[in-house]
Amino acid sequence: MKALVYLGPAHKALGDRPKPVITAATDAIVRITKTTICGTDLHILKGDVPSCLPGRILGHEGVGIIDEVGAGVTVFKPGDRVLISCISSCSKCVYCRKLMYSHCTSGGWILGNTIDGTQAEFVRIPYADTSLYRIPDGSDEEALVMLSDILPTGFECGVLNGKVQPGSTVAIIGAGPIGLATLLTAQFYSPAQLIMVDLDQNRLEVAKRFGATATVNSADGKAVETIMKMTDARGVDTAIEAVGIPATFELCEKIIAPGGIIANIGVHGTKVDLHLENLWDRNITITTRLVDTVSTPMLLNSLGAARIDPKLLVTHRFKLDQILDAYETFAHAADTKALKVIIEA
Ligand SMILES: NC(=O)c1ccc[n+]([C@@H]2O[C@H](COP(=O)([O-])OP(=O)(O)OC[C@H]3O[C@@H](n4cnc5c(N)ncnc54)[C@H](O)[C@@H]3O)[C@@H](O)[C@H]2O)c1
Ligand SMILES: [Zn+2]
Ligand SMILES: [Zn+2]
Repeated sequence: MKALVYLGPAHKALGDRPKPVITAATDAIVRITKTTICGTDLHILKGDVPSCLPGRILGHEGVGIIDEVGAGVTVFKPGDRVLISCISSCSKCVYCRKLMYSHCTSGGWILGNTIDGTQAEFVRIPYADTSLYRIPDGSDEEALVMLSDILPTGFECGVLNGKVQPGSTVAIIGAGPIGLATLLTAQFYSPAQLIMVDLDQNRLEVAKRFGATATVNSADGKAVETIMKMTDARGVDTAIEAVGIPATFELCEKIIAPGGIIANIGVHGTKVDLHLENLWDRNITITTRLVDTVSTPMLLNSLGAARIDPKLLVTHRFKLDQILDAYETFAHAADTKALKVIIEA
């Protein structure tokens, strides 16, 4: 079968690999119909994810059709259409019992990391009963691909952890796919202000179309003053960090209102200064989280009821044969205006 294989930092190829086989009774083999590329795949290609070794098929998002199931799979049968979660959950370990699937002791984020992933014609999914979701009839596969990772990430790490409330003020720093997914799902709660901050004017225009009440281009170095002006000098109740660099986390520290919550989503590779000398008396909370995908059933219901339109995030479409072009397009988002690229297998 065709598959996108990581060959070590800065190297990848569309290769020919054997079709995966069932290795545990709880496995399923899924024939991929649609997948996508995540910013995390680009991090792997930069060599930032040491757990992902050369030879690995990348990808942790997608939808497909069950091809084969192990003897222990009871929920699915061949022919069923399924959504693949980026997080595999055994449902039994101490963390799964706490609904922290991301920390599952034998699962978590393993797809396209420590086991072969979804950018291929077929993928082996461990713990299929609790890591796959049945796709409702008639639902849009492209919209569903957004539910493998980015929507639950924005919703759980940003909106839920940030306790977005009706009438509250929210700033989301970073208008990439994750920041925009956060913007879409924050609107479940009708906050009064949803301020998007980025350096990329195109992404800020997209954010306006997605429901941002205001946008701030922080390239002028005046984001703090601008946001303070927008909030009557109070700052925001929820500041969501969706970039993953010190400057944007420190911006959150400067714009958080007393009693507010800084909800971090970004993956940080370097240390960030925590300014307790300014924050110690401000009653704030800081949260961090790896997406658990516990909200997937709720997001599926919302999508089914047309309460959310994640297909807005899809900007480009490719066939699996053209996946190297898809990577080029996705990696040069400032020029190509790419958000999410759909790859049809
Ligand atoms: N916690 C989790 O479970 C989890 C899951 C998935 C992704 N992530 C992380 O979420 C973050 C966002 O992911 P993404 O795919 O949207 O990334 P992305 O790189 O596509 O988007 C980041 C955005 O931040 C903007 N930006 C960069 N520097 C900025 C600055 N100084 N000020 C304002 N904006 C700036 C960029 O223009 C871009 O639009 C990444 O760090 C990613 O690794 C975390
Ligand atoms: Zn991802
Ligand atoms: Zn577990």
